Amino acid sequence: MNIAIISASVRIGRRSHRIALFFKNYIIENNLAAVDLLDLNEYKFPIFEERLSNMKDPPPKAVQFAEKIKSADGVIIVTPEYNGGYPASLKNAIDLLYKEWKRKPVALATASNGQFGGAQVTTSLVFSLWKIGVCLVPAMYPGPEVQDSYNEAGIPTDKERTEKRAGIFVEELLWCIHQIKGEPV
Ligand SMILES: Cc1cc2nc3c(=O)[nH]c(=O)nc-3n(C[C@H](O)[C@H](O)[C@H](O)COP(=O)(O)O)c2cc1C
Repeated sequence: MNIAIISASVRIGRRSHRIALFFKNYIIENNLAAVDLLDLNEYKFPIFEERLSNMKDPPPKAVQFAEKIKSADGVIIVTPEYNGGYPASLKNAIDLLYKEWKRKPVALATASNGQFGGAQVTTSLVFSLWKIGVCLVPAMYPGPEVQDSYNEAGIPTDKERTEKRAGIFVEELLWCIHQIKGEPV
């Protein structure tokens, strides 16, 4: 089992990346799957000009990103909320690919520095992902007060409560992956 985690914030001093690190650690420590952390801050994709499949000479990093999404059994997107929506870096990455997203089980983890954990992102992000054909996992993981709830390494302040919520969320993703593959759960 291979889970790709997309860390969507490329902001200087970003905090939501802590949640991406938390999920990476949680999944590996609990032997749930192998994890590929796809950090959009490392990919640094330019503003969208064309889909990867239509590029004559695609950048190797974009090809590698596409291959990682294609080969992942499921994807967790960790995104901050910016002005009620999701960041341009994430739209850029979604639009870059097409067939790689088709029927891909995708679960959403959101983050904000407020109480609501970036949950309003789902209003726009769910629609974009539905349009591109992913299989959205019917669970979400809001990350409120991200600056105080995880340290730089992704270690949660309240480990027990955070891992309990994460467990329910990841279990839903794994269930969807097994269902889509037609495997016994
Ligand atoms: C441009 C911008 C817009 C933001 N809009 C919201 C918002 O609508 N709601 C919210 O709860 N937090 C908002 N925030 C604060 C983020 O929740 C905060 O930066 C948090 O740490 C997650 O983003 P990060 O991963 O980039 O740090 C905004 C931050 C920025 C930079």
